[in-house]
Amino acid sequence: MTPYYEDSAVQLFHGDCRDILPQLGPVDHSMFDAPYAPVAVRNASRMNITYRRDGKMYTFGYAALDRGLRVAVSREVARLTRRWVLSWCDVESIHRWRGSMTGSGLRYVRTGVWVRQNGAPQFSGDRPAQGLEACVIAHLAGCRMRWNGGGLPAIWIGPIVHANSTGRNHSSPKPEWLMVQQVSQFTDVGDLILDPFAGSGTTAVAAKRLGRRCIMVEKSEMYCEVAAKRLSQDALPLYRDQGGTSEPLPHVGPSRSVHPRSATHCQARRT
Ligand SMILES: C[S@@+](CC[C@H](N)C(=O)[O-])C[C@H]1O[C@@H](n2cnc3c(N)ncnc32)[C@H](O)[C@@H]1O
Repeated sequence: MTPYYEDSAVQLFHGDCRDILPQLGPVDHSMFDAPYAPVAVRNASRMNITYRRDGKMYTFGYAALDRGLRVAVSREVARLTRRWVLSWCDVESIHRWRGSMTGSGLRYVRTGVWVRQNGAPQFSGDRPAQGLEACVIAHLAGCRMRWNGGGLPAIWIGPIVHANSTGRNHSSPKPEWLMVQQVSQFTDVGDLILDPFAGSGTTAVAAKRLGRRCIMVEKSEMYCEVAAKRLSQDALPLYRDQGGTSEPLPHVGPSRSVHPRSATHCQARRT
């Protein structure tokens, strides 16, 4: 498999994650933001946004999640992941993701929330606006859990990426501050993170800035281009003391190499 984009910390594959994940080797964590369920998409005008750029009109958007994709991705991340699996979803789909993750053998841990500080109001004014997004948190079963957040709750509070922000080029990007917090809380320097729904590449940007590595998959070539451009410009690590790793990405392909450090803290990994 040839990556669409590659640097010392990141590999991005263009294609459907159902085709690509079966070809990948093990990862330390999976952190992703799949399309939301049809009910949430119907209510979210931001799923399709038209921009004018360089004199041309571009429409950003993508199809809603279907059950088959949710189940297939849960099965694959359960097979590949040695520690944390974090899935962003609409609040109404928490039980569905929890069910497909536990059905794939993962241990459900908790559901976290992002309180969107400056999210859109309810324009009709006849009901409360949706002010939350959920993050279903699971872990490899039979394996000791560990995170860097101490006794903190799984609550992240902060602003959305505004539609008119300079450089915004995805219909529903996660904010960088949010992914930086999650990556630093759940992962360690040098860890390998999988994001099968890359979008504009925010998970990889956070990973790279914090000295982690990231393998991503994205179905839309337009978003691959956006993510590749963003990552190629994103050279500076955020924190000097956690600076970049020079360890190359593991072999990606049908043969499965084991990351030596992770193998020691997760002896109970199923095969
Ligand atoms: C919610 S967005 C992710 C946004 C991302 N977190 C960011 O910050 O930009 C979901 C992405 O998944 C992609 N996608 C949908 N189905 C996919 C599939 N089967 N395989 C790979 N990517 C897919 C969509 O094109 C979309 O860009």
